[in-house]
Amino acid sequence: QKLMIVGAPIEEGAGRLGALMGPAALRTAGLIRTLEEMGHPVDDHGDLRLPQTLPAVAPVAGLAHHIEKIAAWSRMLCVETYEAMKDGSFPVILGGDHSLSMGSVGGIARYCQENNRELFVLWLDAHSDFNTPATSPSGNMHGMSAALLCNEPGLEGVFGDEPHGLIKPENLHLFGIRSIDTVERKLLRERGIDVIDMRQIDEFGVAKLMRRIIERVQKANGILHVSFDVDFIDPSLAPGVGTTVPGGATYREAHLVMEMLHDSGVVGSLDIVELNPFLDDRGKSAMLLVDLVASLFGRQIYERPAVSDQSA
Ligand code: ARG
Ligand code: MN
Ligand code: MN
Ligand code: MN
Repeated sequence: QKLMIVGAPIEEGAGRLGALMGPAALRTAGLIRTLEEMGHPVDDHGDLRLPQTLPAVAPVAGLAHHIEKIAAWSRMLCVETYEAMKDGSFPVILGGDHSLSMGSVGGIARYCQENNRELFVLWLDAHSDFNTPATSPSGNMHGMSAALLCNEPGLEGVFGDEPHGLIKPENLHLFGIRSIDTVERKLLRERGIDVIDMRQIDEFGVAKLMRRIIERVQKANGILHVSFDVDFIDPSLAPGVGTTVPGGATYREAHLVMEMLHDSGVVGSLDIVELNPFLDDRGKSAMLLVDLVASLFGRQIYERPAVSDQSA
């Protein structure tokens, strides 16, 4: 399957600058070359640019910094991923901060709705990104993308009248969580969102928890979108991110998640978000991400035995 790669150098959704260099760092670390060497055909759309004129967005109740820019990015990315899905390609979006997932997932969800496919989202993140302008303590829109996708009020202006899809709250799986704001926590509870926090990962391990999600998607013959926030990984391994939280996924946990996702055959699209090369340590985080993406696209340490021998 052809991989459609597009860079989204967006940083206004985050509290600190630098994520706009993310796509460039992922390219420098060899992302495209690695995927091509693995035998995947790559259609590189390059990095998108903001249009000269931004959409007018009606004022929101609460705080949503740079909502016009986020709206412009979301609308562009929504078209990119929708078209890529229609084309039969696998969209890979290189961020840029996590607000970009409003657009990337919006387009994939639109495709799934029109084609009667059930969409599931695996949100690998330290944070739940389930704030709205009314609940957010920071007003940073990268903390609101999961809420927008679940149709929480206050973010309608991002797409305005532009076509886009949404996800069912019960199909959102937050994974690796260790930082939730007070009102955000209340909202997650009220909506019954599946929050797999680090405590669960400690107790049950990623394999068991991932298997449950994968089986759900497989049973529904669904498509799984993976939204990979760099801060999912422990900051000792991936320091290049603006919102580090201690106690993240280990090197092997992160790779196992990606390896299991590959073997599942259900992943249809991917975002890599929040890489901030300004804060990185000699490309360490960017290089780790390239290796993790390689695992998601089938790199193995050693050949696996036939499927029938892989006891669950
Ligand atoms: N919960 C915090 C906020 O709303 C942090 C969100 C961080 N999000 C991210 N995508 N890194 O401001
Ligand atoms: Mn193309
Ligand atoms: Mn995030
Ligand atoms: Mn995060």
